[in-house]
Amino acid sequence: MDARSPCAWLKLDDLHIPMLPDMAARVIALASEPDVSIARLAHLISKDPALTTRMLGFANSAYFSPAQEITTLTQSILMLGIAAVRNVVLTVSFASRMYEARVLGSQGRCYFDHGIGTAYAARVVADRVGASSDEAFLAGLLHDVGKLVILRQAYWHGKRSGTAIAQDELQAVLDDMHTIVGGLTVRHWKLPESLYEPIVCHHDYRQASTHLKEAAVVYLANLLSHRYGLGCEAEQMDVLKDPVCRELGITVQALTSFDAHIPGLFQVARDMVA
Ligand SMILES: [Fe+2]
Ligand SMILES: [Fe+2]
Repeated sequence: MDARSPCAWLKLDDLHIPMLPDMAARVIALASEPDVSIARLAHLISKDPALTTRMLGFANSAYFSPAQEITTLTQSILMLGIAAVRNVVLTVSFASRMYEARVLGSQGRCYFDHGIGTAYAARVVADRVGASSDEAFLAGLLHDVGKLVILRQAYWHGKRSGTAIAQDELQAVLDDMHTIVGGLTVRHWKLPESLYEPIVCHHDYRQASTHLKEAAVVYLANLLSHRYGLGCEAEQMDVLKDPVCRELGITVQALTSFDAHIPGLFQVARDMVA
């Protein structure tokens, strides 16, 4: 057993990581090609009518408020950019495939909402501090994906053994292991390596050995997501007292702007996948 594995049912060297939804995997692969053509990307996405409808709805949403109605996928990709389209596809395919109610119970929707809220918070923070907003979005969306992998593994272990894992044991494993399991998951899915440290270090960004700024962005986005209660209980907190604000140069004005924008953006995105 891997020395870091805390229990018999969760082995870090033998994790059962679910497949990335097929459309997401294909869009990620295509979007990462150096000379990807917009026509090929539009052709791929058009094979999924539900996804096409959502992409058009997103491009025409109040958040982007285009001057003219966007009626084709090519127009949406031109307007949003390839990285943002990749992010929308990931968000929608996660909503439909990864958050299985039977495995996650009533918590599933909350986990997903928390991922979306943190993704949009990370994008807004990254824009503010000059980090890559598309990478920040993905790291925010997936920052707690390790919880999903652990919950699935606990569920199937319970099914096979006939004995459910005790709630306190499960909670301890979730708390201790979700960051490292999340990092291993994004590597397994061959997502950009730049996501690894921000996801593994999203509760302690100073532990990041690379991508320190990006890790700080995701750490702050997670704090903000808890402040606004995005997929979780809203928590009273003095965010500006956290050292991350000093390190990223977040002022009272910046926080006021976050407060004004992030909860609204979250609602638009949540409606897109509802
Ligand atoms: Fe977390
Ligand atoms: Fe979180």
